[in-house]
Amino acid sequence: MPISHPSFGTLADDRIIIFDTTLRDGEQSPGFSMNLEEKLRMAEALAELGIDVMEAGFPIASPGDFESVRAIAQKFSKDGPVVTGLARTSAADILRAAEAIAPAARKRIHTFVSTSPLHMRVKLRMEPDAVLAMVTESVTLARNHTDDVEWSAEDGSRTEDDFMCRCVEAAIKAGATTINIPDTVGYALPEDMYRIFAMLRERVPGADGVVFSTHNHNDLGLAVANTLAAIRAGARQVECTINGIGERAGNASLEEVAMAVRTRADAIRQRTGIVTENILKTSKLLAAITSFDVQPNKAIVGRNAFAHESGIHQDGMLKDAGTYEIMTPESVGWAKTSLVLGKHSGRAAFRDKLKTLGYELGDNALNDAFRRFKDLADRKKTVFDEDVTALVDDEVVRGHDRIRLTGLSVSTGLGMIPTATIGLDVDGVHKTGTATGDGAVDATFAALRQVFPHEVELQLYAVQSVTGGTDAQARVTVRLAEDGKHVDGQGADTDTIVASARAYVHALNKLMAKRERTAPPDLALRAG
Ligand code: KIV
Ligand code: ZN
Repeated sequence: MPISHPSFGTLADDRIIIFDTTLRDGEQSPGFSMNLEEKLRMAEALAELGIDVMEAGFPIASPGDFESVRAIAQKFSKDGPVVTGLARTSAADILRAAEAIAPAARKRIHTFVSTSPLHMRVKLRMEPDAVLAMVTESVTLARNHTDDVEWSAEDGSRTEDDFMCRCVEAAIKAGATTINIPDTVGYALPEDMYRIFAMLRERVPGADGVVFSTHNHNDLGLAVANTLAAIRAGARQVECTINGIGERAGNASLEEVAMAVRTRADAIRQRTGIVTENILKTSKLLAAITSFDVQPNKAIVGRNAFAHESGIHQDGMLKDAGTYEIMTPESVGWAKTSLVLGKHSGRAAFRDKLKTLGYELGDNALNDAFRRFKDLADRKKTVFDEDVTALVDDEVVRGHDRIRLTGLSVSTGLGMIPTATIGLDVDGVHKTGTATGDGAVDATFAALRQVFPHEVELQLYAVQSVTGGTDAQARVTVRLAEDGKHVDGQGADTDTIVASARAYVHALNKLMAKRERTAPPDLALRAG
């Protein structure tokens, strides 16, 4: 039966609402934090991807979270996604969320409380009846601020049936329009999820008037399977993230759910509003912003997702792609290309290559990337797709950096003391410094600390070759930690030391952005 929903009107029986929580559940996981600028860029890409609901953050968590939810709420018109902010049950949480989403053309408050015996006893230290009362209070308060209210039962998959039914009934009576049952700890099997949703839809009065939602964590690698089982049992909203990022092992990956629904339309009667051709570029944007590549064999968006290596497979593919491909690469944004770039390649070829790799850069970023490509092509005979990807990712993440690397020279060798001189632009002011170290990289980082004094722990330094050959680019990852939190920076260059400096500067910029978001101004890192 079609459901009447405050944000979606009459919801067709076969329509699945895609609720994206990349900017909340995804962003809160270690190493994936984004600054305001990055969140806004992601928000725009998610809207272009066609998601229905955007969970923009957890407004009470920090002033930075509040600001970003508010900025995202301001961004979209009525044609854009519903913007939601997360809140626990307290009035302070709900009012903060209400304030953050207030400017949105379409808004929702998402409130949650734990309902499992373990969580209630250990985490909340509350009796079930008190929790039940909180469900009613929190949803009622949220409804005073918006007609579209989602209620979630944290640790829902480990909640007792009777108590879950009472909570869901209370939430519906108080005015919740979406009921979300998360598998918070990634414990459920697909048959559990099917049973829970079927049970709730059958037993709870008023269940046919609300949207049921599923939110699955991937601890056992079952998040997408559980999501599909919930859809089969009548869930009409799916909570997911780009590249499956999220707490611990992550959430159900949006791209996998969307493509399973599309590819298996014969078995799954529902459809989503996802513009699947935009999937790859959205995935790449997130990877570039967070410095976390997806693994090569990741479904849909991994480098090898459509690569056919074995002779038998290649033979089959040449005869008919259907032999080994269940969906076309183009349907998720990959493009077939045999174009290899070199130093004679022009701007048009470069732009075309970027398009086929899923990137769309603005004019300024394109100019900068093209300049760096020409520079790379002078040093490297053939510029492979991986080189372009490394270079553009570097460019994308650097758009709004306060510290920029402007120069580096290093002298080192047998019997010499490694010495590095570095040039930095810090908030537009040019500075240089020289230092020695135990090796070229150590000297470079010491010079960096001299120009821009700071005290953070270098937790990880890793070098990877982007392609083969001695002229290959090195991709360096640097992890800096402070107060138990860490950020990863990446840099790529044919010169490993330059790549190292780029990576360090990138991490430093991220750390500064993080501190500015979470600390009073006097504590923010200052340039020396
Ligand atoms: O995993 C979870 O339970 C959550 C809720 C806050 C929805 O993320
Ligand atoms: Zn979650």
